[in-house]
Amino acid sequence: MSVPLLDLSAQHAALMPKLRDVFERVVESGQFIMGPFLEQFEQQFAKFVGVKHAIGVSSGTDALLVAMMALGIGPGDEVITTPFTFFATAGSIARLGAKPVFVDILPRTYNIDPEQVEAAITDRTRAIMPVHLFGLSCRMIDLGKIARKHNLPIIEDAAQACGARHKSKRVGSMGKVGCFSFYPTKTLPGLGDGGAVTTDDDELAARMRYLRNHGADKPEHFPLVGGNFRLDALQAAMLSIKLPLLDGWIEQRQAQAERYEHAFDELPLGTPFIAEDRYHAFNQYTVRVHGGSRDKLRDHLAADGIGSRVYYPSPLHLQPCFKNLGHRPGSFPHAEEAAAEVLSIPCFPELTRDQQDQVIASIRHFFRPE
Ligand SMILES: Cc1ncc(COP(=O)(O)O)c(C=O)c1O
Repeated sequence: MSVPLLDLSAQHAALMPKLRDVFERVVESGQFIMGPFLEQFEQQFAKFVGVKHAIGVSSGTDALLVAMMALGIGPGDEVITTPFTFFATAGSIARLGAKPVFVDILPRTYNIDPEQVEAAITDRTRAIMPVHLFGLSCRMIDLGKIARKHNLPIIEDAAQACGARHKSKRVGSMGKVGCFSFYPTKTLPGLGDGGAVTTDDDELAARMRYLRNHGADKPEHFPLVGGNFRLDALQAAMLSIKLPLLDGWIEQRQAQAERYEHAFDELPLGTPFIAEDRYHAFNQYTVRVHGGSRDKLRDHLAADGIGSRVYYPSPLHLQPCFKNLGHRPGSFPHAEEAAAEVLSIPCFPELTRDQQDQVIASIRHFFRPE
């Protein structure tokens, strides 16, 4: 593949001396679980997001679980979310015995439609879980108004949007709790699985701290039943090195997005929603191919050695495990149309100009073969 969808090797080659150094320091310290490397990352991450508390956890999925467990969400409860997201969003709700209540997306942003959120609230609703898909913040001001009116917490699934902002606020600082993933394809890529939860609420933070460590508030004392949802010290130490570079990486993604936007200007191709008040993290640069030719474009790119991927080919309400919810094709038309038309193309900090030119030339050639 001459232009991969993502390649972290250049990033890691540049950082290798620092990564090696911190690896040695963690190994020499012998503190692999909890301890100072984790605490340092948590303080650094809380400051970055703009919240009082950040708690490292084992993955983005576990961030969602810990947040919902701390809010007491369980069987019989409903959580409103989007069907156009990675499985973990709704999977975590269902794993706690609660019901994911899907509402459709806005076709231009792919994010949850606030008006439909309000219409879906019942007396069993316990939380609203918007997803900042592909790195674009949801309409958090509108969602915040609805949440306050109905006294519901917002759990931000910020897994794909670490670093993104809505006006001056980072994602993960606008709801009751923010949930992050450091999976290697994310904007802040770990060297393995990892995640974090963020909040300004002292009591909720304490519960989440206990829950990620079996529910213990002190050694061998368990006020809550939690699990092993800890972030390794090694992982936290690596992330501490990468975090100061994140805004620069996002700016590189944004510059590439701008180039794509100009290059695709005259092509029959939908490009991502851009708004002045939204600082897009471009975890994915996702184009939209109308008229049923998305898969042909994908094959054409592959033939030219260019990586691309469909995030997500099937909305969650149509997944077999959610059959019991009673949805069918047509239930959420905007999510279904998006699933049939989206294609994510290479956009990552280390993508070279030559590589991006290849992607642009290949896409232009698809639409204008002459
Ligand atoms: C929107 C969304 N939510 C949750 C997750 C889960 O994160 P993780 O893979 O770290 O468990 C992901 C990432 O894969 C995601 O994209």
